[in-house]
Amino acid sequence: MAPSDMIVQKFPHLFEPFVIPPVHLKNRITMAPLFTAYGHGDGTVSQLTLEHYKEVATGGVAMIVVANTVVDPSGTLSKHSLRADDDRFLPGLTRLAKTIKGQGSAAVLQINHGGRFARGKTLYAPSSVPIRDIDIGGFYKSALKSLDIQEQWAILSKAIQHPLPKEMSVADIERIITAYAKAAARARKAGFDMVEIHGGTGYLPVQFLSCRTNKRKDRYGGVLENRMRFPIELTQAIKDAVGSDFPVGYRFLADEWLPDGFSLDEAKVFAQRLSVLGVAYLSVTGGTYESFSLPEVAKKSHEPGYMVYLARQIKEVVGLPVITAGRIVTPDLAEEILRERKADLIGLARPLFADPRWPQKARTGQEDAIVHCEDCGTCFQLIVADRPALCSQWDKAKLVKRKAMIKEKQNPTKKILVATDGSENATMGAAYVGDMLANRKDITVTILHIQTEESTKNEAGMREMMNIARSFLVKAGIPEEAITIEVRKRKGGIARDILDEMAAGGYGTIVVGRRGISKAEQFLFGSVSNKIVQNAKDSTVWVVG
Ligand SMILES: Cc1cc2nc3c(=O)[nH]c(=O)nc-3n(C[C@H](O)[C@H](O)[C@H](O)COP(=O)(O)O)c2cc1C
Repeated sequence: MAPSDMIVQKFPHLFEPFVIPPVHLKNRITMAPLFTAYGHGDGTVSQLTLEHYKEVATGGVAMIVVANTVVDPSGTLSKHSLRADDDRFLPGLTRLAKTIKGQGSAAVLQINHGGRFARGKTLYAPSSVPIRDIDIGGFYKSALKSLDIQEQWAILSKAIQHPLPKEMSVADIERIITAYAKAAARARKAGFDMVEIHGGTGYLPVQFLSCRTNKRKDRYGGVLENRMRFPIELTQAIKDAVGSDFPVGYRFLADEWLPDGFSLDEAKVFAQRLSVLGVAYLSVTGGTYESFSLPEVAKKSHEPGYMVYLARQIKEVVGLPVITAGRIVTPDLAEEILRERKADLIGLARPLFADPRWPQKARTGQEDAIVHCEDCGTCFQLIVADRPALCSQWDKAKLVKRKAMIKEKQNPTKKILVATDGSENATMGAAYVGDMLANRKDITVTILHIQTEESTKNEAGMREMMNIARSFLVKAGIPEEAITIEVRKRKGGIARDILDEMAAGGYGTIVVGRRGISKAEQFLFGSVSNKIVQNAKDSTVWVVG
């Protein structure tokens, strides 16, 4: 017997393959969603997002659930959330799915609407229940304890000023359900293997399920049958949008852990309904923002496998694959849960954040070398403060690298995109960059041309202009290796294509020439530079000419 076979036999259940039809999983370890605030400020996928998920996928996990992607701007929880509410997010999401799958993990996109916990002026919720009426003060207090007092106050005062949520009209409900369905369809289009509805933590689907937040008198409120209507309709709409061969999973709240909240008995009925709808799996959790701060809940959540009993009870009433998460720190505990058939799959959020190689180490008999999550709360405190997550268990080298990437993400002016159509003005844009940033060694410049029918006919001339642009930069002392030339085929409008490229590449500055098309055409359609000035977000636009 080969040594690796013997090693796998130490955790035979953990390394047994599994199928969520039609997706094959190489083992039973999944990454439970862990929001990191690594996205760009405009909701696009950053280099840091790619780096993070690639590292996790390389560590041997069978499936990764990418956390908390926005289905509609009204449901955004953080300015760093990834978004799937428009086709312009497709290039980044496609890159992300490819990155994860390229390392042999299945890629799942979790989609969410924050409802009354979202940011923004109009908050949508089943009922107009003010947030301050509900005791989340304790939650914030414990989550923020390591921040300095001024920062705590800034975050708390923002929470207190949360506007009163608007009771959703039936038209609002239909619009948001459509947004979920469209986002799910985009996940499929981007190449994800599955989509996961975020039905935990107190977000919109839970707000409908819980009597605490749902006071409606219409068919979406009152008895359980009515409170289940919104999540059931949205699950059905998603299934219709993605097709029967594309798995739709559900992050499932099995108990709100509040005396008058959504209970385990109700959750069992809801689980059965989701099963009939053909949901692919249930990823079972307990608690919401409103119960996390209760002393008994806080105490319980430090215990290893604290949510396994919920998974087991839900598994008893449905025939669906069940994922359990929650301080499953060691491979021994994970193996025991599977051996005793308490769940079918293991979800690791913080353990994989602390050590992405957890699965690989368990498989190769190096489980003693696993760097364990110490439950210190650092990752959580940072994201509550809307800052990118870090882990106190990372070694110095990783911490330094991550901090540098975070800095780069937050200060991306160093990545410059010079868009050129081969005109003199556009080429002068490169000279202008050279003048402004002469001898800077900390920038990278990409000279981008979106190919049109016209420019394809004059490819040699176009290349020449791009090389002239490059030579201006080199003459200005910008290192040659920091300059790239990219030619892309036109997909939509030129301005839209440039903006997509900009968002996908995380460029902080874009340089465009003002000219090009005839005055009449400009009058009718608007110029490329005007469109870029109007639509570029979180970046600087230089218009030359
Ligand atoms: C920093 C942080 C971010 C999280 N983000 C999400 C999320 O976006 N979606 C979600 O369903 N659960 C989220 N969770 C909950 C985790 O998926 C998981 O259920 C919980 O952390 C317990 O598992 P663990 O001990 O393996 O971390 C988050 C947890 C933490 C600590």
